[in-house]
Amino acid sequence: MLEDTEALVGRAIAEFNATADAVELERIKAQYLGKSGHLTMALKTLGKLPPDQRREAGARINSAKDRIESALAERRADIAGAALEARLAEESLDVTLPGRRRGGGGIHPVMRTWRRVEEIFGSIGFDVGDGPEIETDWYNFTALNNPLNHPARSMQDTFYVEDKDAGGLNLLLRTHTSPMQVRYARSHKPPIKVIVPGRTYRVDSDATHSPMFHQVEGLWIDENISFADLKGVYTDFLRRFFESDDLQVRFRPSYFPFTEPSAEIDMAFKSGPLKGRWLEISGAGQVHPDVVRNYGLDPERYIGFAFGSGLERLTMLRYGISDLRLFFEGDLRFLGQFN
Ligand code: FA5
Ligand code: MG
Repeated sequence: MLEDTEALVGRAIAEFNATADAVELERIKAQYLGKSGHLTMALKTLGKLPPDQRREAGARINSAKDRIESALAERRADIAGAALEARLAEESLDVTLPGRRRGGGGIHPVMRTWRRVEEIFGSIGFDVGDGPEIETDWYNFTALNNPLNHPARSMQDTFYVEDKDAGGLNLLLRTHTSPMQVRYARSHKPPIKVIVPGRTYRVDSDATHSPMFHQVEGLWIDENISFADLKGVYTDFLRRFFESDDLQVRFRPSYFPFTEPSAEIDMAFKSGPLKGRWLEISGAGQVHPDVVRNYGLDPERYIGFAFGSGLERLTMLRYGISDLRLFFEGDLRFLGQFN
């Protein structure tokens, strides 16, 4: 009997410790302390013992029962504690950790320039126009005073659309935004005051030339718009674009078939890392009378200026970027710097 109760206590404790499950623990408890559990049964046998042994056996069984109960209570507390700890660990929140964010998107630097150009010209009354990138030979060249087979066409290396003769339209990827002068002027009444930013294409590729690039066309036509207005408007634009009065602007005589006189607009900073270097940023000029006629207007009455500037060039100057191919490689280490 003595050995039985001691062995029983040992087995009970071992079984309690072997489970980490609260429900299982209660099932094991029932095997020892339940109505027909081992200890309950042992107590029931007391009556059959001779009276002199009954007292001692009773004490032993009660002590066994106490020890099993206290082992059970301890194990219950352990299991409940472990469950709580597991839940805390699972739900833990370290408020000192930096927040997790999705990588932010941003605006491409050339698009920043695009928007900025629209904002500045918009503030002095220019509309914003938009037109096709696949253009007809007539709008891209002929209407701009480049007669067929005239050597001026070779100034711009053209991507022709295959099957270009389909329907006699001679399709090509526009080599500049200038065809939009004609499209816009033919569908609007003077005064015409518009800029047209957009994509342009040429067979051209090096550190300062890309096969796809962006230009912004400017056109102001009225009864008395002069080359002096071009100088004023464009110089003011550059000062605002670069946020600096500290730059020089030069209108250098040049040639375009669609303007007369024609100029390249060059600029140089008076300070900073690019100080003193003249850089070409735009073609410009007084619109040629033949082109005004192609607008559907009378060149005896209407006159004005046009310009066509490279958006990549403006962006490179603003941020001091030396290779324009960086704009098209999609390298986030480069692009991320502008946001
Ligand atoms: C023209 O395209 C004329 N249409 C500009 C013009 C408009 C003159 C209206 C008169 C009146 P040009 O070929 O020079 O001109 O190009 C203008 C600007 O586009 C250049 O100054 C340069 O900044 C940019 N550009 C030209 N080719 C490329 C290229 N391959 N990659 C990047 N930028 C270019
Ligand atoms: Mg040029």
